[in-house]
Amino acid sequence: MTEATSTVDVHELDVDGYRRAIPELAGLIVRAVAHGASVNFTANVTIELAAAWWRTRIDAIASGQTTAFVAVGDGRIVGSTLLARSLNQNSPHRAEIGKVIVDPSVRRRGIARALMLAAEDRARADGRWLLVLDTVTGSPADSLYRSLDWQETGIVPDYALLPDGRPWPATFFWKRLR
Ligand SMILES: CC(C)(COP(=O)(O)OP(=O)(O)OC[C@H]1O[C@@H](n2cnc3c(N)ncnc32)[C@H](O)[C@@H]1OP(=O)(O)O)[C@@H](O)C(=O)NCCC(=O)NCCS
Repeated sequence: MTEATSTVDVHELDVDGYRRAIPELAGLIVRAVAHGASVNFTANVTIELAAAWWRTRIDAIASGQTTAFVAVGDGRIVGSTLLARSLNQNSPHRAEIGKVIVDPSVRRRGIARALMLAAEDRARADGRWLLVLDTVTGSPADSLYRSLDWQETGIVPDYALLPDGRPWPATFFWKRLR
């Protein structure tokens, strides 16, 4: 356990735990998209498509390139975050945050904040002191990152489709941990 809210614990998953978590992580994506989230998928995402996306990260989890964090409450996964370390020789200090998702039924309880702080703590401990991410401009996640002192790099218009098919801008952020 790395961080906790009052009723939810945030854990890092090892590769076996990650494999076991994939069906729940897929459900998390499907529910988030149904509630309007733009997280790589459109409205017709299925459990199978979402599970396939998580499966493509198994090798990265096994090698340690990516660390997966989950928030667990009442025995079920209610949140996720990935910390993906750069593999480039010239950026051993950099990592990217992704898949910050909290189940629609438990939002505004500090779960995403706990997931982000766990990922930031891990990055700092590993010497990954420069973090980057991007998110839907004007979204709850946009507010989340600003509340955690992430800095805006800029906005790319029409970056990705919302679940309803409309192109929408993305805001890119960075955060220096030292
Ligand atoms: C963005 C998301 C992860 C936030 O999860 P959460 O657990 O509800 O967030 P928290 O409760 O930890 O919120 C922390 C802070 O973020 C900001 N925030 C979170 N949701 C917000 C919202 N809907 N509107 C405005 N600010 C918001 C607030 O500053 C909040 O602090 P406060 O509640 O004390 O005001 C969640 O809404 C989500 O899963 N969205 C869909 C997936 C997504 O878009 N992920 C981002 C991919 S890059």
